[in-house]
Amino acid sequence: MSSVRSLLDNLHRNYLQTRYLASVVRNRWFVDSKQVFERISVAGAWDYSSQLERERHARVLTRVAERRGDNSWGRVLELGCYDGVFTQELATRCSTLTACDISPDACSRTASRCAHLPNVQVTHLNIEKDEIAGAYDLVFAMDVLNYIYGRDRLTKVSAKIAAALQPNGLLIITDCRLAPELREAWFRRWVPTGVDSIVSLFAEQLGWRLLHRESHPPSGEDAGPHYMAHVTALFEKNIPI
Ligand SMILES: C[S@@+](CC[C@H](N)C(=O)[O-])C[C@H]1O[C@@H](n2cnc3c(N)ncnc32)[C@H](O)[C@@H]1O
Repeated sequence: MSSVRSLLDNLHRNYLQTRYLASVVRNRWFVDSKQVFERISVAGAWDYSSQLERERHARVLTRVAERRGDNSWGRVLELGCYDGVFTQELATRCSTLTACDISPDACSRTASRCAHLPNVQVTHLNIEKDEIAGAYDLVFAMDVLNYIYGRDRLTKVSAKIAAALQPNGLLIITDCRLAPELREAWFRRWVPTGVDSIVSLFAEQLGWRLLHRESHPPSGEDAGPHYMAHVTALFEKNIPI
């Protein structure tokens, strides 16, 4: 009986992994990300002002304050700002804040939300295809790197972010963990989706030093159906000697 059970578990896991890999292939080669995220933004499909999301934002700001203190954090870049809920929180801590998104609608929603904040500038930018201009003290990449499909593309994005940071600048990554059945999938080396693989990939690059990593909830497992387990990771730009 237990061998039948384990056979069924294996079949189920293989099915989920194959289905996931197919979705990655589709997203990488057959989907126009700009259109997808524009539709999501226009529909207002995501709510980043919910209590759980605001708690996630507050946790991240606390972790950064532990490293950078309560004075201004200088010039800051936020990748994937969506409708600017986090942007608005972050702006009060920076001398300048450049918020960007692949979706023009998300950019205009952020610009309206932050219209009263003169230090916020909103830019339309695809982190995969466009250059990232500037020299920042901090870069926030929150819940955005999971949408870059493939080791090659993520490695390029990592190099671009490193180039846009000052020496000893901080990179803050948050993202969701994959479902347990997908975390050990055989293709994860080539397809580093899910925050565990993304953090490992950044940690392997010469340009970064991992300073801090934490899971939320601390068990590392999902907090109900609408909030997948998250990881926050802080990296410092590392100049190889
Ligand atoms: C899940 S939301 C995260 C919102 C916010 N950063 C937070 O954590 O509360 C992801 C955002 O990233 C944007 N995005 C996805 N791919 C992107 C890309 N290649 N370049 C820039 N923004 C992207 C989406 O349009 C969306 O607004």
